[in-house]
This record gives sequence, structure tokens and C-alpha cells, in this order.
Amino acid sequence: MDLLYQIKENAKSHNKHIVLPEGTEERTLRAANQVIAEGIAQISLLGNPDEIKQMAQKLGLENIEKTQIIDPLNHPKKDEYIDLMVEIRKKKGLTKEDASKLIEDPLYLGVLMIKNGDADGEVAGARNATGDVLRPAFQYVKTAPGISVVSGAFLMILPKKEFGNDGLMVFADCAVHPNPTDKELAEIAVATAKTTKAIAKMEPRVAMLSFSTKGSAKHEMVDKVVNATKMAKEMMPDLQIDGELQADAAIIDAIGKKKAPGSPIAGKANVLVFPTLETGNIAYKLVQRMADAEAIGPVLQGMAAPINDLSRGCSVSDIVNLIAITANQAAG
Ligand code: ACO
Repeated sequence: MDLLYQIKENAKSHNKHIVLPEGTEERTLRAANQVIAEGIAQISLLGNPDEIKQMAQKLGLENIEKTQIIDPLNHPKKDEYIDLMVEIRKKKGLTKEDASKLIEDPLYLGVLMIKNGDADGEVAGARNATGDVLRPAFQYVKTAPGISVVSGAFLMILPKKEFGNDGLMVFADCAVHPNPTDKELAEIAVATAKTTKAIAKMEPRVAMLSFSTKGSAKHEMVDKVVNATKMAKEMMPDLQIDGELQADAAIIDAIGKKKAPGSPIAGKANVLVFPTLETGNIAYKLVQRMADAEAIGPVLQGMAAPINDLSRGCSVSDIVNLIAITANQAAG
């Protein structure tokens, strides 16, 4: 079954409530209309209600009236959220006055709605840069228990079906944390394994990638990957994981057998964990462009509630897909 079809069907069965802070952004509005039409999730749109309604009318988006439209300047729970913000960030010096200004920013209002239990997840980024979407999420929703670092995974659908599970692989971190420590890399591996199970619906076989396979090179960057592999096994004892492996040893059976004989993962990996953001981001873009892969994501992982960031070049269907993925994450 087509993966995105399956993700949307799962989302429909959970009927989660997703907040879209960029309610006056045209692609976002079109996506909200489609999500309501298909029954994928309940939607809250943040923005000036008159502007949203006028845009919806002009664009012929009839389902927008079935969304909850919230004016960030006049949210009924504004005072409650301001108190919550001060409680969470008091130690960082946040005053009530600062919070009163921040809560009028839809990117802050969206995460406060989630923190307060008034929404299940958020999708933003069609108009705002990654850092501006993620900062409020890091500050108020924070990371999941046992995880200190948020990272971003891509579901890679490859035309060559011999890779991963019938051409489906998961790559991480390709989007968030520039230079993880060994412990953070271990957390990224564990979070990616969970994303693989929850969203890609596969049993993860995780390769921890490096420029070395099983001691073929000596360097502190290799040591980091070796340590991270051990730590990930301690964090999740039943996780199928191996490292350090070079990319060819991870995905090509004959090379895996030669370079890492006896490895349960070499040649069979369906999850690739990259040692840095540079390598992960460059790799997914090269595979997407040069191998004609479909790249779905980034799916942000490790957060206490699902918040996902779009590329500013996204299409309406990218937004619809990411809303469905977010709803799946919210369902756990
Ligand atoms: N996980 C969890 N918390 C984090 C993370 C993380 N990965 N990074 C920062 N934080 C927390 C910090 O601890 C801090 O919390 P505090 O205020 O409670 O102390 C808060 O977030 C802000 O931290 P800063 O270091 O000030 O974060 P900053 O806003 O400068 O940077 C950011 C965070 C934006 C995510 C940065 O790491 C970044 O720019 N990453 C690269 C994003 C990117 O450009 N990706 C490539 C494009 S995406 C694509 O191609 C698909």
C-alpha cells in the first residue's frame, strides 16, 4: 500500500487537532481546506479572522468555515498562556510583560496551545525560517523524557527497490542539530528507530554511518560513532543497530559481508544515522536529486509533542502530508 495513503488513513482514524500558525498564508489555507475535506485532522488557523475569511472566500475554500479560526491578539486563554510562559521561563528571566508580547506571535501561541493541552500538534514554516519555528517549540514544548536533542528524519522512497524495505529508508539527522555529541547521536538513533516504527511502519535496522567500517580508520570522529552505537544499545537494548559502518557497507550486501562480516545490519540497513547535520543534509539532498528519490519530511523527532517545520518552497500537498504525519506522531 502507498505509504502516504496509509499515513493519511491512520490520521483519519485518530482525528487529532493540529494548529497552523501561518493562517494567512495561501498554501497553508489551501492545505487546511483539503485536510478538512478529506477528514485527516481538526484544524486551528491562527491569524486575523477577517483576513482569513476574505482569503478563503476569494480562493473558494469552503471548508475553512469548519476550522477554528483564532486571532492571536485576542485568544480567550491569553492570560492563562502568559502565566504558563512565565512559569516555564522564569529562570531564563522572562517577565509577564515579555510574555504578553510573545503570545501575540502565532508561532508562540501555537506551541502554548499544545503545551496547555488545547491542540495535539503544529505544522509551520511555509512562511517562517526553521529557527523561528523551532525556537518557541524548544523553549516551551521541550524534548520528550530521556531525550535532550530534537532532530529531523526523512522518509526516503527510492526507485531502486533493493534498498531498505522495498525502496523505503529513513535518514537522520538531516535537519536540526549541527554537531551532536556521542550521547546526542545515540539519542538521535533511538528517536529515528521510533519514527521508523511509528511512521514508516517498518522494524528498524539502524546503521551508524562514518567514513570508517569496523576500525578501518582511526579518528576521534570515528570514536564518536562507535561510542554512540554502544550508548544507543544501552538506551534501547532490543534495537537492531550496528556501527561504525561506511555507507556502501551499510546498504550493499556484498560489500557489507566483505567489510563487516557477521554484522546483522551491514548490507541490510533501512535506517541511516549520519554523524553530523552536514553529512545528513547533504546526503538526503543528493539522493533526492541524483537518485530521483521522494523525500518526505523533515519529520521532527524527540520533542514532547509533534511540531513539524516545512520548507518555505513547499507545495500544498507537502503541507497536507506533513499535517497527516504530525497527526500520526500525536497518536503515538
Ligand atoms: N534540541 C532540543 N533543544 C534545542 C536544540 C535541539 N536540537 N537546539 C537548541 N535547543 C534549545 C536550546 O537548549 C535553547 O533552550 P533554552 O533557551 O531553554 O536554553 C533553545 O533551544 C534555543 O537555543 P539556541 O542555541 O539559542 O538555538 P538557536 O535558536 O540559535 O538554534 C536551531 C536552534 C535554529 C535549530 C539551530 O540549531 C539551527 O539553525 N539548526 C540548523 C537548522 C537548519 O538550518 N537546518 C537545515 C535546513 S532544514 C532542511 O534542509 C530540511
